[in-house]
Amino acid sequence: MTERTPARPFRSREWFAAPGRSDMTALYLERFMNYGLTPDELRSGKPIVGIAQSGSDLSPCNRIHLDLARRVRDGIRDAGGIPMEFPLHPIFENCRRPTAALDRNLAYLGLVEILNGYPIDAVVLTTGCDKTTPAQVMAASTVDIPAIVLSGGPMLDGWHEGELVGSGTVIWRARRALGAGDITEDEFLDAATASAPSAGHCNTMGTASTMNAIAEGLGLSLPGCAAIPAPYRERGQIAYDTGRRAVEIAYDDLRPSRILTRAAFLNAIALTTAIGGSSNAQPHVVAMARHAGVEITPEDWMDAYRLPLLVNMQPAGRYLGERFHRAGGVPAVLHELLGAGKIDGSALTVTGGSIADNIAGRETRDREVIFPYAAPLRESAGFLVLKGNMFDFAIMKTSVISPEFRARYLSQPGREGVFEGRAIVFDGSDDYHHRINDPALVIDEHCILVIRGSGPLGWPGSAEVVNMQPPDALLKRGIMSLPTLGDGRQSGTSDSPSILNASPESAAGGGLAWLRTGDAVRIDLNTGRCDALVAEDEIARRRTEPPPPIPPSNTPWEELYREKTGQLAEGGVLEMAVKYRGTSETTPRH
Ligand code: FES
Ligand code: MG
Repeated sequence: MTERTPARPFRSREWFAAPGRSDMTALYLERFMNYGLTPDELRSGKPIVGIAQSGSDLSPCNRIHLDLARRVRDGIRDAGGIPMEFPLHPIFENCRRPTAALDRNLAYLGLVEILNGYPIDAVVLTTGCDKTTPAQVMAASTVDIPAIVLSGGPMLDGWHEGELVGSGTVIWRARRALGAGDITEDEFLDAATASAPSAGHCNTMGTASTMNAIAEGLGLSLPGCAAIPAPYRERGQIAYDTGRRAVEIAYDDLRPSRILTRAAFLNAIALTTAIGGSSNAQPHVVAMARHAGVEITPEDWMDAYRLPLLVNMQPAGRYLGERFHRAGGVPAVLHELLGAGKIDGSALTVTGGSIADNIAGRETRDREVIFPYAAPLRESAGFLVLKGNMFDFAIMKTSVISPEFRARYLSQPGREGVFEGRAIVFDGSDDYHHRINDPALVIDEHCILVIRGSGPLGWPGSAEVVNMQPPDALLKRGIMSLPTLGDGRQSGTSDSPSILNASPESAAGGGLAWLRTGDAVRIDLNTGRCDALVAEDEIARRRTEPPPPIPPSNTPWEELYREKTGQLAEGGVLEMAVKYRGTSETTPRH
């Protein structure tokens, strides 16, 4: 193995074996020896394979990677590489205040500096919780060294009182039951904790499972990697295989720039619809694409909107991660899409083969979970792109529109897909929580709940707050959801068909800033329009009024983030960062 010639000289040689620079290399070598590496190893010509460790006590969704890294190291060693593990800035979706969205770009920045500035020839990206996947894929593109994704895998399925309870989704459902007075606080807690029975990330098709599936759909992980539950034996086995493969891609110089093509991203977007993926996929896919130098347009999302939902998994469907894995996982879904001609099977992957090569013969064995393309769970189930006089871009995840919601709001005879309602406007989630049950607002089923100040600049970071539940009085009458709209995001585990990610956000001068409680809002899903029925001169007058309040930055990073970050429509990236691609082409100076 060590006699193989790398397709591009390993960059670690510049650190450990630079000709005529024994002063420099001695400095580098001696400190790695202090934990037992030998100069011979480091100068053997073997590739140094980084393991970006996303697991920690603060990142419980990814904590399995602390164990899996042993198997990754075994694989790297057995294939003739030298592993070097290092930490990624922690990201924990549910716990990070004011929002984990701040961490995606921060972890991205940190990882770029590590991959670029240290002697690393290839890297294993350990993914799991929502933003841990896009943060690392974005960084891999910027630096452009060979990279392979290892998912930590979802938790085992949650069960409560004989029912499948999925992470996140159970919270939204139980919260409504609590508001309606159907369950107690203790019952709420029991159901919620039952949804998390083991190590791993969310077991629903929330943002974590979506983003890991997308990484696999992009061709960045070994086939089947995304869906293997964290505690399964196959998880440790694929960790070993991933470590082995990381050494091979180092020799082959198989870099993200060869894999992350426009075709790969279109494949991933098609996959997102078929799995009923998280609405957070939109900003994350756009962010990964922009860092890879690929443009994704609203039309691309609309093309994928017209594709069907195939995977019967919560929140759009019924099952959870274990059953999805057993049904064949991502390869089986890609198999359906390829058979229908909806993805490009020739896209290159990290295996060295194409998507089509990887999924040959991997048809599902479980039609209750993965439906045939010709007889799907739901037609036209992707993200509907909307625009109007309040924003230029927003999406609605249509796979979670319930029959009741459709009957109440979208099925007026002669006006199918059209809803008109009275806006109830909240400035951030504190305002929502304080006032949602205020009888003075007279909220009824003809209202649309609107939240602003929840985008990248307003929050800051962009928060998962748009899936606002109706006031308790409506819940008690059995009205479990109202139309909602906002410039923030919502949890990928939510079953709310909200209008999300509205860009530009109110804090960036978007039209939600001038919307007032009591205004009529008209949504037409047929034309993709969402407009406030407010006269032009009145809009102009309101624009002269002070904008809605947003909180001041609380940390240096919040200030920097607000200065440099763009809107969700464009991925919410650090705008100045996208021009940096392929930084590993030049070795940083000594
Ligand atoms: Fe981390 Fe869902 S909260 S994976
Ligand atoms: Mg989330």
